[in-house]
Amino acid sequence: RSAALGDRFGRAATDLRISLTDKCNLRCTYCMPAEGMDWMPQSSLLTAAEVARLVRIGVERFGIADLRLTGGEPLIRPDLEDIIARVRTAHPRLPIALTTNAIGLAKRAHGLAQAGLTRINISLDTIDADTYAALARRDRLGQVLQGIDGALAAGLAPIKINAVLMRGVNDEQAPELLQFCLDRGLQLRFIEQMPLDGEHGWTRENMVTAADVRARLAERFDLLPDSHARGGAPAELFRVTARGGGPVLGRVGVIASVTEPFCAACTRTRITAEGKVRSCLFSHEEFDLGALLRSERDDAQVARAWQQAMWLKPRAHGMDHAGLGAADYVQPERSMSAIGG
Ligand code: GTP
Ligand code: 5AD
Ligand code: SF4
Repeated sequence: RSAALGDRFGRAATDLRISLTDKCNLRCTYCMPAEGMDWMPQSSLLTAAEVARLVRIGVERFGIADLRLTGGEPLIRPDLEDIIARVRTAHPRLPIALTTNAIGLAKRAHGLAQAGLTRINISLDTIDADTYAALARRDRLGQVLQGIDGALAAGLAPIKINAVLMRGVNDEQAPELLQFCLDRGLQLRFIEQMPLDGEHGWTRENMVTAADVRARLAERFDLLPDSHARGGAPAELFRVTARGGGPVLGRVGVIASVTEPFCAACTRTRITAEGKVRSCLFSHEEFDLGALLRSERDDAQVARAWQQAMWLKPRAHGMDHAGLGAADYVQPERSMSAIGG
């Protein structure tokens, strides 16, 4: 266990997610209030050099095998290319992924690929401009679609699309969003809304479940189980054909974080934009690695603190199958945007 980010339940984290900012240029209703949040002070954010150091410690000491950069919206960082280039230079074969809303991506996709980005996940909940403006509270669909085209042109394949469905807002549009993605070779994943919104407005009744998604897609498509091993991946994959059969048009994923939790297979360790380790999306404790980096502790001390934080990773989020609204579930103080998606 000394060489791994292990926990009390026998899991080891090999999948590092670093948030680069809590800020965002959208206000998706399932994430943030209209007025935004109390942003972290600029001076508290990890620098490019600190991000690179944390990645190096993770790779060298703990066998971190995958890196994902998140936010907030990571494209808000003007030094995103620099961060990726530093990590790429130090770790030529480490997969580096980005989760983004794609605003401003059209202009930067090529440079990001040049810097060494491996792949990209883009949030897109609807392809209807009015619905987009209502859901994200900003009229930006055009820029997002340009961003997707830019990512395709830059060769950042495979591109995954993340969609959260909100009852009565965009849930009826699920089949048309899938068609859009199939037409472009984008791998769409529908994500159950988790109670991590800044307004604490999540309710079990309003959550569109994985079962709801499958029923909605069945209006227009057949979903066949996918043979690929799922491993610890959150998405259950299906092969898609037209309703009634025919050739496989592509794949679609469903991430049932709430109704079918995958906590037992979780291999993630997260670091917030300020450098705090979170052992889980839903944990209530954090450990401030950023403070250690700044007080000139050596790698071994930073590594030890990281290990201690991960050892306390909770077994599961507590919203189990039957007991949604479960008594043992308490929403963490940080919203999704401040944790890193
Ligand atoms: P790949 O499958 O490797 O492309 O990445 P990913 O799905 O982990 O990354 P992404 O950032 O696109 O996350 C997709 C969604 O999965 C998130 O928005 C969350 O809803 C969900 N998710 C990610 N991490 C966790 C986690 O630790 N716990 C739970 N319950 N859900 C998570
Ligand atoms: N529940 C589920 N997914 C969410 N995301 C943001 N907030 C939530 C939530 N409350 C998703 C976004 C983005 C990813 C990083 O997280 O759609 O694709
Ligand atoms: Fe921004 Fe992502 Fe939150 Fe939407 S879900 S407001 S794009 S951080």
